[in-house]
Amino acid sequence: MQLQSSASSFNSSIPSFSSIFFSVRKKPAFSFMSRAKPRLVDLVCSMSETGAKTKETKLWGGRFEESVTEIVEKFTESISFDKQLYKHDILGSKAHASMLAEQGLISESDRDSILQGLDEIERNIEAGQFIWRTDREDVHMNIEAALTDMIGEPAKKLHTARSRNDQVLTDFRLWCRDAIVMILTSIKHLQVALVTLALKNNGLIVPGYTHLQRAQPVLLQHLLLAYVEQLERDAGRLLDCRDRLNFCPLGACALAGTGLPIDRFRTSKALGFTAPMRNSIDAVSDRDFVLEFLSANSIIAVHLSRLGEEWVLWASEEFGFITPSDSVSTGSSIMPQKKNPDPMELVRGKSARVIGDLVTLLTLCKGLPLAYNRDLQEDKEPMFDSVKTIVGMLEVSAEFAKNITFNRERIQKALPAGHLDATTLADYLVKKGMPFRTSHDIVGRSVALCVSKSCQLQDLTLDEMRTLSPVFDEDVYEFIGVENAIKKFSSYGSTGSTCVADQLNYWVTKLEINK
Ligand code: ARG
Repeated sequence: MQLQSSASSFNSSIPSFSSIFFSVRKKPAFSFMSRAKPRLVDLVCSMSETGAKTKETKLWGGRFEESVTEIVEKFTESISFDKQLYKHDILGSKAHASMLAEQGLISESDRDSILQGLDEIERNIEAGQFIWRTDREDVHMNIEAALTDMIGEPAKKLHTARSRNDQVLTDFRLWCRDAIVMILTSIKHLQVALVTLALKNNGLIVPGYTHLQRAQPVLLQHLLLAYVEQLERDAGRLLDCRDRLNFCPLGACALAGTGLPIDRFRTSKALGFTAPMRNSIDAVSDRDFVLEFLSANSIIAVHLSRLGEEWVLWASEEFGFITPSDSVSTGSSIMPQKKNPDPMELVRGKSARVIGDLVTLLTLCKGLPLAYNRDLQEDKEPMFDSVKTIVGMLEVSAEFAKNITFNRERIQKALPAGHLDATTLADYLVKKGMPFRTSHDIVGRSVALCVSKSCQLQDLTLDEMRTLSPVFDEDVYEFIGVENAIKKFSSYGSTGSTCVADQLNYWVTKLEINK
């Protein structure tokens, strides 16, 4: 499991889902098997594993005479979730240690011990051999304390000119940077699946809806490509977010910077950031990048939820436009006949959590004075949840797209209903020189006539049409009927077959799809 959480990953390599979401075996908060009654302290907090035999002094424990109570320790810990940042924490520490040595703040041999020790810790974590300790509070102190256990004195120099306040943000920005690359990859998977689905269904006309009422005929390809466009804007938002978050807080220390001769440009560059953050107070206070990332994810979630809704409707008996294969459907425990499009229902459902994650962060931040406040520790779980959920939603939507069939016959049969060609007929009269408002009215009357006769526009005789306007001529029949109507669309971006073919070519080239 290699996570390329490094300077190079910013430009090219793609971190894997599992490496971002490093999962650690959790002991349940309490077990019915082992204990009749759960202890309050176990219920208060999610993680009771410490691995510690004896109580040790906290890294910050100098001025304290008493140790914190178990309830406080378990309530304030973040190790149960921020251990996911371990790779980025180690990366940041390595850059920091190298800079300290270059600046003469630690010796080269201390630096080498630190770097080697950190490498070994990383290997231990990845081998599942590292013991995460709740009494060591968070990922930063777990790693630093483990390093001290391992290499002794040199490890005590690592936190020179650094605070956990700038450290956690360095880790988190690096993590978000990698997570964005991962989401971009999943966005592309879905775009490719949608374009491939479009290619498979060349020429298929479906009813286009407004107000969920039949409106005009459209090519299915056109409709599918509308989702591809949304996803492209989603990717753009993430790229913007990545550019804005790629500034380095390391060296801002607690909030005020330091009097020690550090080189923040050196660490920033080593970690692949654009530049160090200009203002140390801003550096440790800012969570805009989290809000922005969660907002971008929320918009993706809304797009996918709409796609989910569309496909759930299309899979219904009432629409019957698509048949999802069994491999992406689930059944009912009571109704033997049921075959449900659950994955897309859950895509719609999970959008709620992604939006909730954003609202959590907005609420978290709104009352906070500068600079760091412990409340901010609550920024991580919503972010982890949001990224994990979005990737899942994108990947399952792509899976669904690969496993649906459009029911051509059923769609074809349903097309005549709803007078989808009425607007094209109005355009016909405009082409003959009639003002649009007048043509709208005449076609409205034509439709009313069809409704009274239970027929389609193309079933009206020329004489019947001429009772409504003398402008109608033989060539009107080239404009009515869904097949004819669709041929008449020619404006840029419209549903005409040439326009749609142009769009399709654009995406096939851009997404490098082999036809
Ligand atoms: N676990 C903390 C967080 O996630 C790290 C920073 C703690 N800083 C402090 N001064 N207590 O925000």
